[in-house]
Order: sequence, then structure tokens, then C-alpha cells
Amino acid sequence: MRFFASLSVAALALASLTTQAQTLAPPQVALTPPMGWNSWNFFFGKVTDKNIRDSADQIVATGMKDAGYVYVNIDDTWEGERDANGVIHSNAKFPDMKALADYVHSKGLKIGIYSSPGPKTCAGFAGSLGHEEQDARTYAEWGIDYLKYDACSFIGDVMYKQAPNDAAERMRLMIAAYAKMDKALKATGRPIVYSFCQYGWDAVWEWAPAAGGNLWRTTGDISPDWDRMYVILSQQEGLEKYSGPGHWNDPDMLEVGNGRLSLAENRTHFSMWAMLAAPLLAGNDLPNMKPEINAILTNRDVIAIDQDKLGKQGARVYSDGEVDVWTRHLAGGAMAIAVVNAGSDRYSTHPFHLNLHKLGLTDKQTGKDLWTGKTIELTDNMPLELPSHDILLVRVDAPVKNQLRKVILAPTPQPPAAH
Ligand code: GLA
Repeated sequence: MRFFASLSVAALALASLTTQAQTLAPPQVALTPPMGWNSWNFFFGKVTDKNIRDSADQIVATGMKDAGYVYVNIDDTWEGERDANGVIHSNAKFPDMKALADYVHSKGLKIGIYSSPGPKTCAGFAGSLGHEEQDARTYAEWGIDYLKYDACSFIGDVMYKQAPNDAAERMRLMIAAYAKMDKALKATGRPIVYSFCQYGWDAVWEWAPAAGGNLWRTTGDISPDWDRMYVILSQQEGLEKYSGPGHWNDPDMLEVGNGRLSLAENRTHFSMWAMLAAPLLAGNDLPNMKPEINAILTNRDVIAIDQDKLGKQGARVYSDGEVDVWTRHLAGGAMAIAVVNAGSDRYSTHPFHLNLHKLGLTDKQTGKDLWTGKTIELTDNMPLELPSHDILLVRVDAPVKNQLRKVILAPTPQPPAAH
């Protein structure tokens, strides 16, 4: 998979899109990363109308709605046939999409749907190619609030067919396809969150905002195991500058509560998605959610990091052995500090000493440990022993910055030039 394509092509495509973007109203949606639930990571192709209703019920009953989860998103496999007029209909698993949307709305929640710019979705159902305006209108009539638009067959059936030997042209086709659906969605007048899913191709973070994207996948699919989650986490480094209110990097939906993730791994996954200002779209079996998973997904302090109004994505500051230290700057001058033990045992990095100076901080900081809820004193060089794959996540409301460091880094004043 190619992540970084020619920048000059991106620049060209952007130039034409920027004119369009400038005439658009400021984003009305996704001013903080979208929060909700999506059907794919647990139900995959088996999802039904009943699963969506049950999940909406559970979002309310488990306190997730009160914690900020809003979108109930139907992923792939809802699609049926197009009628003689080209209008898309849902399949037998979803007998009445409008009624389902009404039901989700009646719970005070919003509803999302899924399609592809190609002829087929990734699971082989009808995509939107050639029917973009029509589909956008249908979604708006149903009351849809969120669209995930997944490249899938567009890559093979359109990009590679039309431009087999021209990478720049393929990229232009991709950008145009996403921009086309953006125009169609905007023409409906309905505020619809627009989520790009093309796995990070062609440096999507550089052109997605101008093509109308509120969020864009930065990687291939997540799976519910530590290795995949950690690879995706590592791939987010350097993307922080592209993210902000109305347009977010999307390292894929949450696997919290799924597969082989231990409790520590679930905590780390959730915490780090918050550090990344990632969309928090749970993907677990809500009717059978264990209390400890519910507790992770509804940790308000961690959610507050994700939803911080400044909208500034966190970054990795340094690693020592298998321990990674990330920080995120928050509104009001606050700071979140995450220390992750990515090693396979508690002692793999023993002893690990936290270096506050590398974080631009003085020797002593007072914060809140967001997983114990207790006040914690951080001191420079303090030893930390974290269980394997666990995290220390601390919010420091009033960090004391290391002024000395600034002085050292400031440019040396130059004598005036001689005349
Ligand atoms: C792709 C996407 C997934 C999911 C499936 C559905 O793999 O990346 O998130 O939407 O398609 O078919």
C-alpha cells in the first residue's frame, strides 16, 4: 500500500479544491472528534436492523449517551438493489431505513450509514458510483447524519482501469470521487458528517479537508489484538499537524471489548485514541458488554482529553526501550501525559525513569491519574513500573514549564551588521 504519493499532484488537486472550500460555510459538524458506535468490528456482515436498535437502546441504558456517544453507524451490508429509477433500497436485513432512523433519533441519538465511491462496497454490495447525488438525497430523506465512504472497488474498478500507468491521474480520480460526494451531501442541506475511508492512500490528510472530509482513515483495518493496535498507533506519528476542529485523523474504530485485548490493552487503546484526538466509535457487542468494558468506554476524564476544545492531537515525545511517552496540549494550558509500556513483560524496560525535562517541564508536576482518579505527583527521573501493555495517563491542569529549556533553545542574538 502506498501512503505517500507525489506531493505535486496533491498540490494541483488541492488548488482546484481550495477555491471550492473557500466558498463553503465553516464546518457545522465534528467540531470535536465524532463519538458513537459502528456495527462493523463486532457484527461485520451479519448486522441487522434489530442489532442497530438494540445498540441504540444500550448506548442510552449503559450511560454511553450521557458520556458523549451520539452516532449509531450502520457499516457495510445494509445495501439492496437499485430500482428502475436508480434509487437505492436497503436489503431484507433492513426492512425500513427511514423507520430505523426515526427510532435512533427518538433516543436522542444520530444515525450513520456507509457506501463506496466505486461500483461495489468492500463486501460486494451496491456502491454509489454514478448515483452520488441520488444517494445523498436518499440518505437525507431517511434522516442520515453521518456517511462513511469507503474506497473499496473504486481503486481496482475505476482508478486502475482508467489510469493503469498513471499514478498521478489515479490520485486525481480518488480526490475527485471524494469531492463529488461532498458536493452531493452539501447540496442536501442536511448536516452530515463525512468520513473518508481509503486507508491513508495518497497522503489523504493533505487533501481531505479541502475535499470536505471531517475525518479520514489513516491506515488499513484495525483488528482486536495488541500488535495491530500498536502498529496503527505508531503510524500516527507525524500526522498531528493535519488534525483539528472539523477535520480529524481517523486511526480506525475502537476494538475496546473485542477479541483478544486484555483489560490493560483496552485501557491503553482507549487512552491513546483519546491522545490522538481520534473519533471514538465503539465497535463492541453492547447488549453483552461487561461492566469493566463499560467503565473504560465511559471514563469521562479520558473522554475529556479526546474531546478537548483545542482540538490539538497528541504526539510521541520520546521512547526509552519499549516505553513510549506521549503528550497532548489541552485547552487552558493543561497537558495530558501518557506513558505506555509496549514491552511484553513488566520488567522488559525495567527500570524506566520518566524524564520530565524532555516534556518541557520542571522537576515536579501535580496531576490526576485518569485511571485511578487519584492525584499523582510526577517528579523528574521517577521510576515507573507499568504492567505489560498498560498505560499511565495523567492530566496536569497547570503544568510548570521548563523556562530554562526555552532559553537554551532560543536563537542566540547576533551583533548588528557592520556598515
Ligand atoms: C473496509 C473498511 C472497514 C469496513 C469494511 C466493510 O475494510 O476499512 O472499516 O467498513 O470495509 O466491508
